[in-house]
Amino acid sequence: MTELLSLKNVGIKTKETSQQIVTDVNLTVFPGKTTVLLGESGSGKTMLVKAITGILNRSHMSLTGNGFYRGTDLFSLSEAERRSWSHHIALIMQNPMTSFDPSLKIGKQMATGFQGRRSDVYGQAAHALKTVGLPRPKELLKSYPHELSGGMLQRVMIAIAMMQSASVIVADEPTTALDVVNQELVLNELNKLRKTGVGLLLITHDFQVAKKCADVITVMREGRIVESGEAKQVLERPKNEYTKALLEASVLCRKG
Ligand SMILES: Nc1ncnc2c1ncn2[C@@H]1O[C@H](COP(=O)(O)OP(=O)(O)OP(=O)(O)O)[C@@H](O)[C@H]1O
Ligand SMILES: [Mg+2]
Repeated sequence: MTELLSLKNVGIKTKETSQQIVTDVNLTVFPGKTTVLLGESGSGKTMLVKAITGILNRSHMSLTGNGFYRGTDLFSLSEAERRSWSHHIALIMQNPMTSFDPSLKIGKQMATGFQGRRSDVYGQAAHALKTVGLPRPKELLKSYPHELSGGMLQRVMIAIAMMQSASVIVADEPTTALDVVNQELVLNELNKLRKTGVGLLLITHDFQVAKKCADVITVMREGRIVESGEAKQVLERPKNEYTKALLEASVLCRKG
């Protein structure tokens, strides 16, 4: 199957102290499939997300290796080139409240970066909100972020990804800040997009989320990949001791 996104030997280190944060990471996202990146806090998941989505602070961090999107190395693009590519890869962040500008209405934030007549863009935004299951979309466009719940804001981010017609969605712990009902809703919406052919890179430290969504699971520890494989194999027959320990801890956590 043709890869949408492919990381090759990615390394990230701080320029000032040469602290190696990510080492030799290889990872692939396929159309219509979910790659889950698992790993405990501080293992370098968000740093990798920043590198992929072009928001890594390159004046403080050195980035090596390649990040190919359909054969183009995103890591070697100029800032202007990157902007023209950025709509292909949508980012959904962990904390919905800090992902929006609190002073701007949802409609304005959704319309930013989209060309065309205002009424057309707002029409598209309302349609996208409806598609992700949000009620009264036209009223939502006139609301401020604080008037929406965390789960609603996560779904607004998914709606923006739909408006972008992104082929890859990178979701960095999109459900961590949500209650169980909203977690389910957000994962279902991401899953629906995946079924349309979108490739999903889902970052989580929750094995239950991995179990529900993953086609491929990649496990990261201290900036390195320790195991990667088909989801069923990694969940049922993990090869790596660290993966086994993480799995056991998640089972104990649920029983407790
Ligand atoms: N701006 C920075 N400068 C230097 N080191 C940083 C910076 N930001 C993060 N780090 C370090 O990089 C490592 C990886 O951080 P990262 O945020 O990618 O972890 P993570 O796997 O996303 O963790 P979490 O599950 O808590 O979100 C950590 O050790 C962190 O201390
Ligand atoms: Mg993180």
